[in-house]
Amino acid sequence: MKLNVNGAEREVDAPDDMPLLWVLRDLMGLTGTKFGCGIAQCGACTVHVDGAPLRACVTPASAVAGRKITTIEGLSADGSHPVQKAWAELDVVQCGYCQSGQIMSAAALLAKVPSPTDTDIDQALSGNLCRCGTYQRIRAAVHRAADIGKA
Ligand code: FES
Repeated sequence: MKLNVNGAEREVDAPDDMPLLWVLRDLMGLTGTKFGCGIAQCGACTVHVDGAPLRACVTPASAVAGRKITTIEGLSADGSHPVQKAWAELDVVQCGYCQSGQIMSAAALLAKVPSPTDTDIDQALSGNLCRCGTYQRIRAAVHRAADIGKA
């Protein structure tokens, strides 16, 4: 099947029901997207499909053929996306496992809502669990990313 990932068309030899997460990680080598729970409950595997957050662990790759898939590697080539900058500036990460999913959900929110409230942030990221409890720093970093995005 053909998949559009991070702006490039890629041909992959995968069964139709293979989860997008396996295709990204195992067939394309894009390991920035993490496997957490495997049942769409933790958000570690969040990618964008046509700009909206989606859980790659429960999505058959064939279901998103022909759509625009973006992984954390495609957010920016050099870590210059406002969310990535804000994350680094505020030192958000603890163990790091959940963070690429957090960043992808935050980036999707900011693309839709450039100046989100705390409630907007809590709602948009409520499906992204952090076992280290970095929620306060995540919220602060989303506000910071909003400022960086406007500068
Ligand atoms: S930083 Fe450890 S799970 Fe979020």
